[in-house]
Amino acid sequence: MQNFSPSCERNQQVIFETLLPWLQQTSSVLEIGSGSGQHAFHFCEQLAHLSWQCSDQGEYYAGLLANIAQSNNPQINQAIELDVNGRWPTQSYDMIYTSNSLHIMSWQSVKALFSQLSAHLKQDGYFCCYGPFKYQGEFTSPSNADFEQWLINRNSQSGIRDFEALCELATEQQLTFVSDIAMPANNQLLIWQKA
Ligand SMILES: C[S@@+](CC[C@H](N)C(=O)[O-])C[C@H]1O[C@@H](n2cnc3c(N)ncnc32)[C@H](O)[C@@H]1O
Repeated sequence: MQNFSPSCERNQQVIFETLLPWLQQTSSVLEIGSGSGQHAFHFCEQLAHLSWQCSDQGEYYAGLLANIAQSNNPQINQAIELDVNGRWPTQSYDMIYTSNSLHIMSWQSVKALFSQLSAHLKQDGYFCCYGPFKYQGEFTSPSNADFEQWLINRNSQSGIRDFEALCELATEQQLTFVSDIAMPANNQLLIWQKA
């Protein structure tokens, strides 16, 4: 597998179990920043009704294409090249999912992603994002503060996002907040609905 992610290996089952009530109501999924595609493979192996559209940009895209071809899973469509700042697919989905991407992409890109949610979610569809977040400017752990410093040293545009700022972006898209679930290793699973 190209771009294999040890963190996906660790978090995929707990994310799957936590997201299951929403995945059970979902047929089509668009994933932003799929990376290696491990979450798509893991979730689709366990839920035969899912149809998963992986996407990524830049250096991840070629490896993602190769991994999907190798997986030979008909539930997983060929990946599309998608930078959230660029052109999005024309169709809409029951769920848009992204994991560990909002703190990597720039704030401008986070805003671009949120600006497309309403147009690309079906009515009652969910936007689900997994990763570390801040609350009222505070980290949920010292290790997340260290992690943000590491991210910023690597790319000054990266950074752990404020939950409240994301809620504002979601509200602008007429999305309703559904759930904020604490996950292992100081991560959260955030869910909004186009209700
Ligand atoms: C740390 S990786 C996470 C990959 C995978 N989702 C996971 O959980 O392992 C961050 C992802 O965000 C994606 N990303 C960063 N900027 C992006 C942008 N502007 N548009 C789309 N994806 C972006 C990267 O290409 C990469 O796939």
